[in-house]
Amino acid sequence: MQIDVVTLFPQWFDWFRGQRHVANALEAGHDLRALDLREHTPLTGGQVDDTPFGGGAGMVLRVDVMDHALRAFYDTDPVELRKERRVIALTPGGRMLDDGLVDELAAEPAVTLLCGRYEGFDERIVQHFCSDAVSIGRYVIAGGELAAMVVCDAVLRKLPGALGHVDSAAEESFSVALGGDPEYPHYTRPAEYRGWSVPEVLLSGHHEEIRRWRRARSRERGASGTA
Ligand code: ADE
Repeated sequence: MQIDVVTLFPQWFDWFRGQRHVANALEAGHDLRALDLREHTPLTGGQVDDTPFGGGAGMVLRVDVMDHALRAFYDTDPVELRKERRVIALTPGGRMLDDGLVDELAAEPAVTLLCGRYEGFDERIVQHFCSDAVSIGRYVIAGGELAAMVVCDAVLRKLPGALGHVDSAAEESFSVALGGDPEYPHYTRPAEYRGWSVPEVLLSGHHEEIRRWRRARSRERGASGTA
């Protein structure tokens, strides 16, 4: 899979690339590039944003700057680009990221994530250059970079080779294997600590009973909304 992140802070992704499961995915042949939006602005002084028409606080990323940058990166009109690969604007008002969307993106050969800053994007960027707008939650963070890392983290760990154990991503919170419910509770040694003991069934060695116990706890958590 090929993931590109268009950002004003490409160096932030140097750290991210070094994280174990990300590094594993990259070693397995997947690709993550951080592309510098400012490098291709046609405006003087590295300008990329402007004040909003109609007034209001903050600055808005300009559509002409994004047009130039995407053309430079892909050598194609961005209006056409979104027909060739998913181009995703990260914005608080977008489609909420969940396990289903992560699976959908993990199945794509190539994805481009656009990071907003300040007050976000000129709406024409989203309308004409993007196939999707995605949010990581109904709150506002200072820019799309951390949201892009959340998307990349969630997507890359689904790819073969990213996690140590083949089943790690298959049976985890919100997966199809758990019927969309949160994951069951985990315990490890010591079996008894300060009088808090591990549920007996997990020490029993009865795989079918353990499976049923875990499924039941997972369902309870799904019903109560506490993961
Ligand atoms: N940019 C700023 N806030 C965001 C959010 N909640 N999700 C995605 N991108 C964002």
